[in-house]
Amino acid sequence: MERHATVTRPAKLSVSGVGKTFRTRGNLLVVLEDIKFEVMAGEFFVIVGASGCGKTTFLRIVQGLDRPTTGTIELDGRALHGSGQDRGFVFQNDSLFPWRTVLRNVTFGPELRDTPRKEAERNARDIIALVGLSGFENHYPHELSGGMRQRVNLARAFAVNPDILLMDEPFAALDALTREQMQQELVRIVAETGKTVIFVTHQIDEAVLLADRIAVLSARPGRIVRIVDVDLARPRTLDLKRTPQFHAIVEEVWNLIAQTHGLGNEEAKAHGIAP
Ligand SMILES: Nc1ncnc2c1ncn2[C@@H]1O[C@H](COP(=O)(O)OP(=O)(O)OP(=O)(O)O)[C@@H](O)[C@H]1O
Ligand SMILES: [Mg+2]
Repeated sequence: MERHATVTRPAKLSVSGVGKTFRTRGNLLVVLEDIKFEVMAGEFFVIVGASGCGKTTFLRIVQGLDRPTTGTIELDGRALHGSGQDRGFVFQNDSLFPWRTVLRNVTFGPELRDTPRKEAERNARDIIALVGLSGFENHYPHELSGGMRQRVNLARAFAVNPDILLMDEPFAALDALTREQMQQELVRIVAETGKTVIFVTHQIDEAVLLADRIAVLSARPGRIVRIVDVDLARPRTLDLKRTPQFHAIVEEVWNLIAQTHGLGNEEAKAHGIAP
């Protein structure tokens, strides 16, 4: 018999009424206002918005590096307290230890958790293979290209087996070709591991290629203007970027950003947003 019951998946991450106000030298700066959304398990959720609208601040709050002024965040139905290895963070700039090899960079997190060295190394080798760096385990960061270093960052975030990956413009520093290669790799890795991801980018085509949904933030104070569904089939490949469906969504997101910021193309570029 055919079943028509809709399956409701529980939210992995629930964000409700999150606001952030910084107080600096007696001045108040409202950075985020009333952010609310839910991210489902296994979902790839992307946040876009102009420079300074509070994207990094938001990820830092989810990571537990900073506290919201208002609102709450729940992970699997439990309020977040502080940072934890249930969340992995990939920063814009690589944050590798220059004095540690690739392998030892990747085992660093698990070592902090007292994972036995043998086990940490075995897992690390698997993850290094997953990000396509087998054979470079004993290299030092300075012996790698920018793209390879970003792969190590990714491996490091995966090594603690987080439930949710927080990625803050992880490919921004890469050249266009490497960036596309990394986008493709990330699509593959996320499909293989089924991770839940929150990903911040300035690049709208990157957002559309990767996302299940895209939250468009207004200029500071960052508020959610709209959450756009990216209804494109998976697996996604770079060819998708040449289809009309892809361009239609890029246009939609682009228009939302331009409207909310009252920007023309040149101004938007000055804000670091590329269509
Ligand atoms: N610790 C802090 N104290 C005071 N102000 C801060 C602090 N951290 C961030 N801000 C301010 O909050 C605003 C948002 O910063 P944030 O780094 O979140 O922006 P962003 O959206 O990530 O920008 P970008 O796209 O340039 O990375 C900025 O105006 C910044 O100056
Ligand atoms: Mg930022």
